[in-house]
Amino acid sequence: MDLGKVLACVLFSLFLQAGSSQSPGTDSVFNCCEGDILFLLDSSGSVSSFEFSHMLSFLSELVLPFSLGPEQVGVSLLQVGTEPHLEFGFGTYSTQQGLQEALSRTKQLGGDTNTEAALIFAKEWVLKQGVTGGARPGLPRVLVWLTDGVEPGDVQGPMAELRDKGVAVLVVSTGRGNYQVLSDVVSPPAEDHLYFVDIEDMSIITEDLRNAIIRIILAERLQVRDISSTSAVLHWRPVLSGTGYYDIRFGPIYSSQAGPGGGPGTKPGTGPGHYQRITRPAFSISAQLTHLRPDTTYNITLIPVSNLEFYNKLSTLFTTHAESEAMQSPAQVTVSESTVNSVRVSWGPLQPDLVHSYQVEYSALPTGKLHVVTVSNRQNSTVLANLLPDTQYLVTVSARYSSGKEKAMSVKVCTQEIFPALADLRLTTTGSDSVQLRWRGSADGLRGYWVTWEHEFVHSAAQRSTLYLPPHLLSTTLTNVPPNARVCVSPVYKSARGEGLCCTAHFSSAAVPWSQRL
Ligand SMILES: *[C@@H]1O[C@H](CO)[C@@H](O)[C@H](O)[C@H]1NC(C)=O
Ligand SMILES: *[C@@H]1O[C@H](CO)[C@@H](O)[C@H](O)[C@H]1NC(C)=O
Repeated sequence: MDLGKVLACVLFSLFLQAGSSQSPGTDSVFNCCEGDILFLLDSSGSVSSFEFSHMLSFLSELVLPFSLGPEQVGVSLLQVGTEPHLEFGFGTYSTQQGLQEALSRTKQLGGDTNTEAALIFAKEWVLKQGVTGGARPGLPRVLVWLTDGVEPGDVQGPMAELRDKGVAVLVVSTGRGNYQVLSDVVSPPAEDHLYFVDIEDMSIITEDLRNAIIRIILAERLQVRDISSTSAVLHWRPVLSGTGYYDIRFGPIYSSQAGPGGGPGTKPGTGPGHYQRITRPAFSISAQLTHLRPDTTYNITLIPVSNLEFYNKLSTLFTTHAESEAMQSPAQVTVSESTVNSVRVSWGPLQPDLVHSYQVEYSALPTGKLHVVTVSNRQNSTVLANLLPDTQYLVTVSARYSSGKEKAMSVKVCTQEIFPALADLRLTTTGSDSVQLRWRGSADGLRGYWVTWEHEFVHSAAQRSTLYLPPHLLSTTLTNVPPNARVCVSPVYKSARGEGLCCTAHFSSAAVPWSQRL
């Protein structure tokens, strides 16, 4: 489900509830909206002073419940006369007190009803987004035109331009005439945005008009983000200016495991109705919620508390993720630093908030004894020692979650082979060009022996002969060996050659059996 829509519904129904129980003049503030509202007020000589003061009190009652400020509602008043007169701009008042006083100070201009000039001024300055003193970028803009409806002037063109630029146009007419012109200029649907009312009865439409404006500037005031299985972050638009605090209450309303009635699996003290409460100072705009239950729907309520004004509370619902979605560790297991008798096993990611400890189990394949090591939840690797060389092990890393659940991942690792050096090479010359070689047998994993002999001539390259012998042979006889040839024997293992031994064949005198490391 689309959280945005849900939020909007929650907020709107909340407003409607508040609105329906609200009597005019209430000092409760709707923390509902974000946007700029420009009132275009006919202040020309054609309006009687009686009508003018009625219009001002109507405006004053209409805007009274809005919270004003940089992330709230901006209200501006533009008077229509011979020349337009900007009484105050959107950013001028951030308290109701200031705004209400400014409205009560507003003086009628008199003169002609030059609505077109006022609309051009509104389009070029007041409602233009991003210019100094203009409307705020990215937020809805509303133009409410209060007119007696008589000789409205050539307003269709400028109004259409404003609507094309995204401004919502609403009209309140205290006269009867020019239905066609007025219904042309409002943003559709006309039945929501065009009001005809007698000047004495203006308060009849206050609530409907306010609701119509709110539908345009309604904002998501509460958002729950970064939801995990046990935590979430609540964000809100600031409404308190400097004093007071935010009172935040949240509790599960429904658990998909336990059901709303709290069946088996409901922990004592966490059933429906058990609310946690936190407070945050006036300057804050978010709060971390922790110790939540996985896979549970929470109702959270934000109450701005101030001794200056009484604010509406805001509520929304959110659902924590199932624990299995949060159980990510281990997502990978890797092996490094492999030696003949040890390997380092590493894993990640670490989830110290959720994981209690890690357990590493390993055994030689196919049928070795099982070894178990337990390591802390902040450790992401360990060295397994005392392993057998050239052996494959199955290593399993399991994360033990605090909830009692477990997640595991296995890898196969190999220790390195050992390559024992050749031991005890003996060389005996027989006749004038043949030698007998004898050596001692070598370790497991031996694939054979590599025998080379060469004679270095003084003025040319070495002449080299080679012979590969199977592993069971422990002696061989070479013939046609040149005098003073160096004869070497190396053991050959699966993946490398071990260290060999060399002897020099002396045919002139009695053979001296000596050997030398390669
Ligand atoms: C959430 O809590 C608020 C404040 O307690 C309450 O008014 C509202 O009805 C609750 N919503 C749901 C869906 O339970
Ligand atoms: C283990 O933690 C260290 C830092 O503590 C980090 O550099 C390394 O990438 C982590 N290894 C794995 C496999 O997550």
